[in-house]
Amino acid sequence: MKALAKILALAVVASLAASPAFAAGGHEPEKHDWSFNGILGSYDKPALRRGYQVYMEVCSFCHGVEFIAFRNLIDMGLTEDEAKAAAEAVQIEDGPDDQGLMFMRAGRLSDRIPPPFPNENAARAANGGALPPDLSLMTKARPFGPDYVYALLTGYEQAPDDVEIAPGMNYNPFYSGEQIAMFEPLFDGAVFFEDGTEATIEQMAEDITQFLMWTAEPKLDDRKRMGLGVMIFLVILTGMFIAVKRRVWADVH
Ligand code: HEC
Repeated sequence: MKALAKILALAVVASLAASPAFAAGGHEPEKHDWSFNGILGSYDKPALRRGYQVYMEVCSFCHGVEFIAFRNLIDMGLTEDEAKAAAEAVQIEDGPDDQGLMFMRAGRLSDRIPPPFPNENAARAANGGALPPDLSLMTKARPFGPDYVYALLTGYEQAPDDVEIAPGMNYNPFYSGEQIAMFEPLFDGAVFFEDGTEATIEQMAEDITQFLMWTAEPKLDDRKRMGLGVMIFLVILTGMFIAVKRRVWADVH
């Protein structure tokens, strides 16, 4: 009996240790009602466009989205002309030319969105030693994914009196360890949305999270549509099987 109790206690401890609540602290984020949740969920196209804008105008100075090329933005909902203009607005290093030299040229649709720093050391040097991680897979890489990113961006607050903040750090209860080197990146009116949406911190956080969900899973809409199609097909197929079975066994008593 005692041994059983011990095993049970161990199992409880093990399951707690394995749960996504962060070992080093970090509050569990609230569940957000995302448009892409559930089997019928899909991306909110206007939100994606706004999120891309927030990324380019705020986050892209420190964070890359390394897997995304400008042509992918057309799948996301930009027109081809808009995606081309977005590409042409950035300078890309190319080369070597006939003289063996690297040169800068305007971006093309086939180029990836360039990272803000040429390498990790440069990124750390510009951020007081901290590394701003690539964001393209962030919503898949962290427990609670999009809910965590949203909570982190909207969760900055004054540190409680009993918490001592290290130099260069900011208090954020949703970050593991509750101190983060990134200062609060969003403030009301940080960008201007052309569709008339008011750029509050919550709105921008929601839109950039939607965009980062898309960078991590650009095919989510297709996948869900296909899943639904497969389910409908299976229901019809099952119905047909039942009908056939009834027919075949009808005369057997
Ligand atoms: C001035 C530079 C800077 C800007 C601008 C910035 N960040 Fe960061 N960010 C950082 C640094 C540095 C870290 C690493 C923090 C650490 O190690 O404590 C970070 C970390 C993060 C993390 C990682 C949390 C984790 O779990 O590892 C996320 C998510 C994030 N930033 C999102 C954003 C978003 C979204 C924006 C734009 C709205 C943004 N950041 C703008 C510098 C920046």
